[in-house]
Amino acid sequence: MNKKQKLELTWIGKENRPKLEPRVLIEDPDKSHHATHRITDDDLFDNQLIFGDNLLGLKSLEHQFAGKVKCVFIDPPYNTGSAFEHYDDGVEHSLWLALMRDRLEILRHLLSEDGSLWITIDDNEAHYLKVLCDEIFGRANFISTVIWEKSDSPKMDSQFFSSRHDFVLVYAKSLGAMKLGRLIDTNRDAAKHYNKIDGDGRSYYLKPLRAMGSGEDTREARPTLYFPITAPDGTLVYPKRQDGVDGRWRWSKERVEREPDKLEWVKIKSGWSLYYKIYAEGGQQRPAETIWPHAEVGSNRTSKAEVKALVNQVGQFDTPKPEALMKRIIELATSPGDLVLDSFAGSGTTGAVAHKMGRRWIMVELGEHCHTHIIPRLKKVIDGEDPGGITDAVDWKGGGGFRYYRLAPSLLEKDKWGNWVINKEYNAAMLAEALCKLEGFTYAPSDSVHWQHGHSTERDFIYVTTANLSREQLQQLSDEVGPERSLLVLCTAFRGGGEYPNLTVKKIPKQVLSRCEWGHDDYSLQVQNLPKAPPKPGQQPLFGEAEK
Ligand SMILES: C[S@@+](CC[C@H](N)C(=O)[O-])C[C@H]1O[C@@H](n2cnc3c(N)ncnc32)[C@H](O)[C@@H]1O
Repeated sequence: MNKKQKLELTWIGKENRPKLEPRVLIEDPDKSHHATHRITDDDLFDNQLIFGDNLLGLKSLEHQFAGKVKCVFIDPPYNTGSAFEHYDDGVEHSLWLALMRDRLEILRHLLSEDGSLWITIDDNEAHYLKVLCDEIFGRANFISTVIWEKSDSPKMDSQFFSSRHDFVLVYAKSLGAMKLGRLIDTNRDAAKHYNKIDGDGRSYYLKPLRAMGSGEDTREARPTLYFPITAPDGTLVYPKRQDGVDGRWRWSKERVEREPDKLEWVKIKSGWSLYYKIYAEGGQQRPAETIWPHAEVGSNRTSKAEVKALVNQVGQFDTPKPEALMKRIIELATSPGDLVLDSFAGSGTTGAVAHKMGRRWIMVELGEHCHTHIIPRLKKVIDGEDPGGITDAVDWKGGGGFRYYRLAPSLLEKDKWGNWVINKEYNAAMLAEALCKLEGFTYAPSDSVHWQHGHSTERDFIYVTTANLSREQLQQLSDEVGPERSLLVLCTAFRGGGEYPNLTVKKIPKQVLSRCEWGHDDYSLQVQNLPKAPPKPGQQPLFGEAEK
């Protein structure tokens, strides 16, 4: 056996990789939405909703957001073969795997070192997807497969099993750096102990401050923990065992003085008893388990009702996820202020939940329900008009906002002679931004220096112009740039150029022609994108040249 062979999943066309154009994102302010006033100091406004194919969408985010996303959640079409109202779910397996691979590779690049990926999926592709993710993320970074109980009753017309669950595959970008949150125990018997609520709305229960039950609960055993504490009516209370022997407190005198808010006096027949508070957030956290019952995180029935309540007038969305499920994932994977990304946004559950939980978000959605479902839903969340889902659980009152973007058309188009030329829809700013993305520069046009459109380092700049630059103009640029800095000049034509050590002068579009596939707008899950099968050994290709 060839030693170099590795364990891998293969499929038709695996070797084909699209050369993606990093598109400019164009904001449509009429579709963006912001609260009319701040509700809290932590309101988040820089969220993004991107309308378009997610492969191009992710590519366009890559330069700015690489390494910055804490949690990627995706709920891709499961490839079930059944046609849904909103998208074509029946896609050939190879095509599905190829398209997932291309997206997952960029998603991995976007994740921060301590970030994680969460994917919902069912039996149709789960096991293939697991192997694919192992290949992209490394098998060592696989964390777990969670079983989400998606339904609450059997489907009576099932031929074999009535499927009750979906999977959630969980991967770390880098297992060593990843920290998974813990769950606050609110659904278990232990939670019944948290029978009191303090002024801040936090649940707690009381435990006597006097030590009890161990052989060490006497004054004699720990003399320094025997001291009087003043009750609300001024009485001095000492720790006394029920048999009359001097007892001892659990806390030191210093701690009693330092944390009076954590103590509570209770008047009983025989006088005052002192207790300390144990909060739900304190010790009673538990690791997430791998089975998530619908009673805890909702089912498909819950989520359909949630979306229907929000956007009933434009019809139901077939495959939303429940808000409680997303809350659990976001709770485990992120902290407030972290960035959450969903590139198969559907009805926008991820953004809605992230928003209510004080996380920043980016969503990408290709379907028309981006307008009919996501925008109205997020507007209601921001305006404090969505009472459903997790609103009560997180005490959401509204606030913040998002910007709506669409993908710019391809930078290059063919003219009537078949030559690639700069797309007429591009203005100077779009052209500069597009070339910054292509050349790996950060687009940051200077107000004062006309040739600074972006930078790659503090001393390396880019200048984009459709002008034909003369020797004199290049000389002037070189003088302004000076010996300490460098400038990449992209222009449609120029004279000279080689003689300036601080300038690199290139022609557009020639400089970028071979960089990517131009004019390719459709990388979505369409069967017609499937690459052709290679001919079987010994078989002549049907079309084109036979082997020479
Ligand atoms: C299962 S749904 C996601 C549902 C979502 N989790 C929710 O709670 O509403 C999958 C979504 O992915 C979208 N989608 C499929 N292919 C896409 C692509 N290439 N680019 C962007 N979105 C895509 C579909 O339009 C669909 O809305």
